[in-house]
Amino acid sequence: MSEMNYEARMREKAEVLHARGHAVILAVESSCDETAIAVVEDGRIERANAIASQIDVHALYGGVVPEIASRMHVEAIDPLLDLALEQAGLTLDGIDAVAITHGPGLVGALLTGVSWGKALAYARDLPIIPVNHIEGHVSANYVAHPDLEPPFICLVASGGHSHIVSVEHYGSYRLLGQTTDDAAGEAFDKVARVLDIPYPGGPLLDRLADEGDDRAYKFPRPHTEGRYDFSFSGLKTAVINQAHNLRQQGQEIRAADFAASFRRSVVDLLVDKTLAAARDEGAKRVAVAGGVAANSLLRSELERRGKRAGLEVFMPPRRLCTDNAVMIGAAGFYSLMAGELGRLDLNALPALRMFEG
Ligand code: KG4
Ligand code: ZN
Repeated sequence: MSEMNYEARMREKAEVLHARGHAVILAVESSCDETAIAVVEDGRIERANAIASQIDVHALYGGVVPEIASRMHVEAIDPLLDLALEQAGLTLDGIDAVAITHGPGLVGALLTGVSWGKALAYARDLPIIPVNHIEGHVSANYVAHPDLEPPFICLVASGGHSHIVSVEHYGSYRLLGQTTDDAAGEAFDKVARVLDIPYPGGPLLDRLADEGDDRAYKFPRPHTEGRYDFSFSGLKTAVINQAHNLRQQGQEIRAADFAASFRRSVVDLLVDKTLAAARDEGAKRVAVAGGVAANSLLRSELERRGKRAGLEVFMPPRRLCTDNAVMIGAAGFYSLMAGELGRLDLNALPALRMFEG
């Protein structure tokens, strides 16, 4: 190592990588209940995608237990590095920079990946790239669609967030709308619980809904002041109340019909708002991201109605919709190219936002 301090050396390294326009990034994700390490080339090519899911453990408690999540991240992270390098056919010598999710998420969980990633970067004399988890979700689309470039409109719907954003350039976003209360994934998980579907309810409710009639039950259409905002808490409460009333009257709840009717309400709302935003913005492309983007009805409706509206529609494969580190490596590449490096005092930011204000 030269006499120069770490940060000055990293700025030089980042400039060299920028001039080459090429970088192999090792990415770390530990914001919630998935520990993940990926290797991504040039923001577009998935060289490795190693994930350890904790879902089975948290399912015992009906939701994520933060303390358990942190401890399980610590246990999983070293073996995942070996696995990721093996998948990529590389050693650490082949890595140019380390991208790390630093927020938003559970503070203890985030800290595991942040501390581990910083230690690795320092030991290997590599630049650190801090990545916003939500920006990561959006960027999964770059890996799935090598031709996709900004500008486009993106619906981001996960367990903790629901936004409609205008992606203006790489790393530059304008918020168009968002949920005023629960996130879409949260609504799926809570309604699933009423139907006795184990945590995380979203994927299982989605499968159950495939067997049901989506016109069997009537749920209210949530109203919001903002044109592109959504609200799920009123819908969720109405659904839960209806379930309780039916049970009190001794009537059986036809779970598949119930799930299908609820899924239809959520998906119609998400697609209506996203397409309205795309139309008003004069967009040509629309994308979707986040765990809820794995929902089969959301995927088919956005595809069908988006195409009918003359839009090009993009979505990651399901495995890149839910939490993973490939998306972090994709977002990290564009941050690296923009010279946005982290320092050794990089901290976990549980409430990190993607937008000002
Ligand atoms: O993006 P993600 O993996 O984690 C967060 O950043 O929150 O999203 C997880 C959320 C959970 O609420 C889960 O129930 C929901 O995404 N989800 C689904 C489906 N797959 C995952 N919701 C509806 N349908 C699905 N197929
Ligand atoms: Zn996520």
